[in-house]
Amino acid sequence: MSVTLVIGTQWGDEGKGKVVDYYSKNADYVVRFQGGNNAGHTIKVGEEIYKLHVVPSGVIQGKTGIIGNGVVIDPEILLQEINDLVQRGKKPKLLISDRANIIMPYHKILDGAEEQYLGDKKIGTTKRGIGPCYSDKVARNGIRAIDLTDKETLRRLLLRILPIKQKMIDLYGIKNKLDEKEILDTYSTYGKRLNQYITTTHIELNKAIRKKKNILLEGAQGTMLDVEFGTYPYTTSSHTIAGGSTIGAGIGPGVINNIIGIVKAYTTRVGEGPLPTELLDKTGEHLQKIGHEFGTTTSRPRRCGWLDLVVVRHSCLISGVSSLAITKLDVLNGLPELKVCIAYSLKGKTIDYFPARINDVAACKPIYKTFKGWATMDAASQKVSDLPKAAQEYLRFIERQTDVPIGLVSIGPGRTETIEV
Ligand code: GDP
Ligand code: IMO
Ligand code: MG
Repeated sequence: MSVTLVIGTQWGDEGKGKVVDYYSKNADYVVRFQGGNNAGHTIKVGEEIYKLHVVPSGVIQGKTGIIGNGVVIDPEILLQEINDLVQRGKKPKLLISDRANIIMPYHKILDGAEEQYLGDKKIGTTKRGIGPCYSDKVARNGIRAIDLTDKETLRRLLLRILPIKQKMIDLYGIKNKLDEKEILDTYSTYGKRLNQYITTTHIELNKAIRKKKNILLEGAQGTMLDVEFGTYPYTTSSHTIAGGSTIGAGIGPGVINNIIGIVKAYTTRVGEGPLPTELLDKTGEHLQKIGHEFGTTTSRPRRCGWLDLVVVRHSCLISGVSSLAITKLDVLNGLPELKVCIAYSLKGKTIDYFPARINDVAACKPIYKTFKGWATMDAASQKVSDLPKAAQEYLRFIERQTDVPIGLVSIGPGRTETIEV
């Protein structure tokens, strides 16, 4: 039995969907523990492509998906996702935490309004209502999954919250009147439809752990979007790091056996905020084109840059990463020369850690080590030793710099384009 946690070590979109799907073959339960439908996890099985936003990736392998208490749920999107999966013959086995917070219509309105108000100082959110929903959770104004299942409770909560939200919407100058009856009817209908899934998932999960079942915890976003250790304030609003999984799933930290950090072989970021290794040149365009770097959720182009090992070391440190999964190594095929950032130059000093002050991050100049590239690789490679020598050297350098062993290398989006080390 094992409890394995998979997290992104960069700015999201590292290939968590692919890696979680791959490891799901051995799992009994696959658990999302934070984030919401700001996430977009892609799974490719043969010619079939699935893009999941809230439902855990393990359901594609027929495993039970748990949406933990730390997730924020947009019920409309979740029901649509379940329906889409049913249509494709992949009816998900699903459990939803009774404590998960619900994204309400005013969260989405306010997410958009705040971003618009900030103008060129915006965060570049996905406008899915994630930040406002987590803010309400902490401010104790949240509505939780269990509240949707009882109309009277929901009515009482809405009576308390809606006037405050209406005031905020009016202040932003948005012409949108929140209709209490309509919201109550719509969201209690969602509650009726989701009721079959809503349960005490933390109890289920701990029972499963005691029965020595295999659990896979599926992170969303990545360390640099963590609200505490990311490029704050250009982050999401949840804890994307290992620590977030125990709170967001309701398990003790001691039960986690493996922490897999996913590292894309280069760097991408969606939205605003500094990106020290960003390439605003032909190489950046090449990575975007070959890597199909367009957001799974918002279709926005992802900014691309060289691999930043200061970032990856920061992630490994904070989350106690025990092994790495390197993804999209194939995207580097054909580049004559590769660069990897090993430290930053900041105000004339060399630093080897990620600074807290956002202006310092923006001022950091990467210090690179240059590698010889490789022309191509065999997509059917089964072992690291089947890969080009220069690619092997690139992988070894990542291991040495992070002091964490590589357990998996992904050389294509499909399930089979995977090398277990
Ligand atoms: P996630 O949010 O971390 O799950 O990542 P996304 O699904 O948003 O983005 C990763 C993209 O890269 C998806 O389109 C995947 O199908 C694709 N992908 C994953 N691993 C590989 C790989 O090793 N090589 C290539 N070429 N594509 C990959
Ligand atoms: P996955 O799980 C990449 C980014 C947004 C924005 C910031 C805040 O697919 O890796 P939010 O809507 O969360 O308030 O936006 O976080 N962001 C992601 N970027 N992948 C994601 O998820 C992301 N989820 C949020 O672009 O910069
Ligand atoms: Mg994604």
